Amino acid sequence: MVKSQTTEAINGPKTRAVVLISGGGSNLQAFIDQITVGNLELDISLVISNVATAHGLERAKLAGIKQTCIDHTQYVNRSEFDQALMTRIDQEEPNLIILAGFMRILTSEFVNHYANRLVNIHPSLLPKFTGINTHQRAIDAGEQWHGASIHFVIPELDAGPVILQGRLPVLPKDTAEQLQQRIHKIEHQLYPLAIKWFSQGRLEVRGDKVLLDGEISEHQLQTFDL
Ligand code: GAR
Repeated sequence: MVKSQTTEAINGPKTRAVVLISGGGSNLQAFIDQITVGNLELDISLVISNVATAHGLERAKLAGIKQTCIDHTQYVNRSEFDQALMTRIDQEEPNLIILAGFMRILTSEFVNHYANRLVNIHPSLLPKFTGINTHQRAIDAGEQWHGASIHFVIPELDAGPVILQGRLPVLPKDTAEQLQQRIHKIEHQLYPLAIKWFSQGRLEVRGDKVLLDGEISEHQLQTFDL
């Protein structure tokens, strides 16, 4: 059993996070907004993008958060890139690394280095639809529900103990874009909540499950009507 934080951390220093992005950064913005209104105790010490033009870097700058680009194309292979990432991340001494639309596959060395403190959001109801184009694939498969999953990261792609999932009905005339937009809305509610649970020390990893306050909770699957 691995607790996300020691209990002292609830009243002690805030969780210090590094956020990794590749694009728009709307999930990063959701964290910033919840921190601003006092709903999330989180110190985002650094935002790293692997893409120099990622709009999320602008969002970080506007919020007064340190940000940098580590461009994967400048490295000879995945391992060298991940080493550079780890070196920069570790300078911040974070206790949480948040993947928020970070579109690079990470080596097992990287993932194991941050075991139980590396979280990801994936736009599907895992274990369904790992990989890309999840919205179109859910429509094509005739799914009744589609959603997003927040999970601890393990070396296997888009797998690992699930912290929180949100689902909404797939509508008969949904296009992939419409579905994606609605899923994005629920991601912005779910991801800050999952991070809040982590920072409050309420999560425990037990095998392939995540316990909330010591048990599997109904709050870990939320249904939306959007
Ligand atoms: C989010 O929808 C997230 O679920 C997805 O990228 C988007 C990033 O949006 N992540 C993945 O597909 C990871 N496999 P954002 O940059 O606006 O936060």
